[in-house]
Amino acid sequence: MTRGLRRRLTSYGDQDFSLFLRKAFIKAMGYSDDALDRPIVGISNTYSDYNPCHGNVPQLIEAAKRGVMLAGGLPMVFPTMSIHESFAAPTSMFLRNLMAMETEEMVRAQPMDAVILIGGCDKTIPAQIMAAANSEVPAIVLPTGPMETGNHRGERLGACTDCRRLWAQYRADQIDEAEISDINGKLASSVGTCTVMGTASTMAAIAEAVGLALPMSGSAPATSAERFRLAEETGRAAVAMTETGLTTAEVLTPAALRNGLITLQALGGSTNAVVHLAAIYGRLRRKLDMAEFDAIGRKVPVLVDLKPSGQGYMGEFHAAGGVPRLLSELTDLLDLSAPRAFGGTLGDCVSDLPTRHEHQIIRPRGEPIAASGAIAVLTGNLAPRGAVIKHSAADPKLAVHEGRAVVFDSVEDMTERLDDPALEIKAEDILVLRNAGPKGAPGMPEAGYTPIPRHLARQGVKDMVRISDARMSGTAFGTIVLHVTPEAADGGPLAAVRTGDRIRLDIPNRSLDLLVSDAELAERMQSIPAPRPLPERGYARLYAQHVTQADDGVDFDFLMDKPRD
Ligand code: FES
Repeated sequence: MTRGLRRRLTSYGDQDFSLFLRKAFIKAMGYSDDALDRPIVGISNTYSDYNPCHGNVPQLIEAAKRGVMLAGGLPMVFPTMSIHESFAAPTSMFLRNLMAMETEEMVRAQPMDAVILIGGCDKTIPAQIMAAANSEVPAIVLPTGPMETGNHRGERLGACTDCRRLWAQYRADQIDEAEISDINGKLASSVGTCTVMGTASTMAAIAEAVGLALPMSGSAPATSAERFRLAEETGRAAVAMTETGLTTAEVLTPAALRNGLITLQALGGSTNAVVHLAAIYGRLRRKLDMAEFDAIGRKVPVLVDLKPSGQGYMGEFHAAGGVPRLLSELTDLLDLSAPRAFGGTLGDCVSDLPTRHEHQIIRPRGEPIAASGAIAVLTGNLAPRGAVIKHSAADPKLAVHEGRAVVFDSVEDMTERLDDPALEIKAEDILVLRNAGPKGAPGMPEAGYTPIPRHLARQGVKDMVRISDARMSGTAFGTIVLHVTPEAADGGPLAAVRTGDRIRLDIPNRSLDLLVSDAELAERMQSIPAPRPLPERGYARLYAQHVTQADDGVDFDFLMDKPRD
């Protein structure tokens, strides 16, 4: 097999000349022939001044390079896109597929025998795994790791469950302007990813559970010495992978992916991971079976006591033994023969673990946070292809609830009217937000965490049933139905709901229904608004033309590895 610098030669019509020219140019960087004869490990550099979740990437790169060189390889760092949740307009999801495309093509275009993908902030690890799924280059994920917690008046704070909780208190006039400003400087107290079981932590843990990242690398704090030792070890592992490594498609067997779904439920993980996993399935010519995912949830308990489903923060999860400890509680459900990118099987992650000293953050199987999994899949006439709810973070009193719909036609409409004192709304009503899905918004914003209307918040209302075709941050909480599919802007029945309609949510029976007759619903569907015109040009047009629905991962249809019927 062609290796090292000889891989993927630029086309000049003369292969020897292509190699001659490549070497001539790279020698300008001071490399010797000996260095250039080594196996090459590409390292994706996702550092950006706009991305504090990746603020430790330069140090991680240095440590990973050290590992590569200690093992006799040549590290080659190359830039790719970097996406931060708060610095991507209209949404980070809008850009995830672009990052996946860019990463896939840069790994394909440049000579490397293995690649280290450094990611962390919510969309980056999903984009990188999607990119790797169709690559012949073995890949290993190196998460950036969670940030440290802060402290406010004796209370620990961590982005971003506490961001939302305290902002809700501010909206309810329980916190004044000066205090919220003070809190603003304490929520993200170091570089690294959000320190709760949000999307970033969930996807890093899943990367470990499916065999794409070293044990403990999903949870080691971003600023810890252990994180940098793991980076060095990742570099060493990547060199070994240049000889023996499996491709990502070979690692992500159906058994490995199922292990990922089990892990997601046991973590009390982010609903966003469902979308990302659906996209990864799609890249592998498979379809995430939502009914199977729900069935897994009924069997798998939530064992991790982290916000937003529980109380703790990522540092404690790591200290408690991280993903290997969690998996050791689930061995009867997992397929421990699933391979790992860096050798061995998942079973190796759970063998020889140190004695357990902790029983609160990672619960023993018999003492779960919740007896069944974090996320349920709902269907009904309002969500023919499904919707999800993180019921582990919802008010149990609302698990079965019928209420009057109060409809918002868009995120902008919601922003304008939600706090209007003239808005007729009661605590038992159901907030419906539509046109906030993959096409509608566009970019499927994390707007599903519709705030409690201010006057109700002031009366002490903390949770209401909320339904949308949007996503929600993995750090958020509440009785919130998300990813209603198909979305309103793609002809879904959410478009036909009217303020005053009755809606029934029944989580135990997994149903979500608009209480109108089939005939009435069919008639209303005849007069829903026509899709909006396509953007005139550029990536926005490509996105609008090709983006799929949540059950297909919000990927582009032409990037999924199999045309859909
Ligand atoms: Fe980057 Fe939360 S904003 S992980």
